[in-house]
Amino acid sequence: METKLSQLVKAAENEITACKSLHELMLLKSRYTGKKSEIMAFMQQLVALPKPERPAFGQKVNIAKERVIELLNKQEEIIKEEIYRKSLLENKLDISMPGRKMMRGGLHPITRAWREIEDIFIGMGFEVAEGPDIEDEYHNFDALNTPQDHPARNLSDTFYVNDDVLLRTQTSTVQIRVMENNEPPIKIISPGRCYRNDNDASHSPAFHQVEALVVDKNIDFADLKDMLNIFVKKMFGDDISSRIRPHFFPFTEPSAEIDIVCVKCKGTGCNVCKGSGWLEMGGAGMVDPNVLEGLKIDSEIYSGYAFGLGIDRVAMLKYKIPDMRLLFENDIRFLRQFV
Ligand code: DAH
Repeated sequence: METKLSQLVKAAENEITACKSLHELMLLKSRYTGKKSEIMAFMQQLVALPKPERPAFGQKVNIAKERVIELLNKQEEIIKEEIYRKSLLENKLDISMPGRKMMRGGLHPITRAWREIEDIFIGMGFEVAEGPDIEDEYHNFDALNTPQDHPARNLSDTFYVNDDVLLRTQTSTVQIRVMENNEPPIKIISPGRCYRNDNDASHSPAFHQVEALVVDKNIDFADLKDMLNIFVKKMFGDDISSRIRPHFFPFTEPSAEIDIVCVKCKGTGCNVCKGSGWLEMGGAGMVDPNVLEGLKIDSEIYSGYAFGLGIDRVAMLKYKIPDMRLLFENDIRFLRQFV
């Protein structure tokens, strides 16, 4: 039996060392070491031996098996090494080839404008406040002193979720939320997304506004004008100033619209400003005493100003984007220009 065993190991050795493929090696492995292998058959023959000889022979069978496994492992390494060597030869690296360019991501122009606006106002002592996109009529209209029959409440302007719940049409809602929960002095901005039933080259159904609210003792219209001018210069450059025109908003009295000097022609008149030299940027005014009183802020002691600017508009003017829809289509060819 012993000679048979060593013959078997010899045969295995010959076959294994001659083997050139991993697949064949796997077959050899099962043939020589598997459950039904010849080596395992020796184990079963142990019972035929006289009892005292069994342990010694059993040990020999084990050693033979280990030897075969060792041979298999060694050969596996040799074959793998050979495969690797061949692949290196076949797939030669051409180190002179130019590398593949990595695409760099960039911030969306709205995000850029948004962050720049925040930085400017934070630098002037404002805090950033947030409010929900899905609002109730109270915060979007009632508390902002908007009459029941105001056209903005109309279905054709406002997206209603149900009778009382809507997608906010303006970030002015956050004025109310801040005044509900804080006492003056208040000095906040609130950038965010708003929604209106509008869609053309200069209007998108979802757009971005930044609201500003300052409430304290002795706040007057000059403070508002001053702040707008400082902001506009910081945002667009020293040669761009702002002006205000009388207007009406339910929640401010007096109210105004804000224009800035045309960023393209600097006021001489061009196609961007339609010859007027001015561009519209948003609305502003002194917070209506009705709004303050509605929130239990004594309008005899406190006064405030507020304004709302279009962030998309700022981004369009700053980065010379001619059509608002470009901001929302997310065409990669457009966005890549802002990397
Ligand atoms: N919420 C106004 C709008 O969307 C803009 C606005 C006007 C905001 C006057 C203000 C303000 O804070 O005082 O048209």
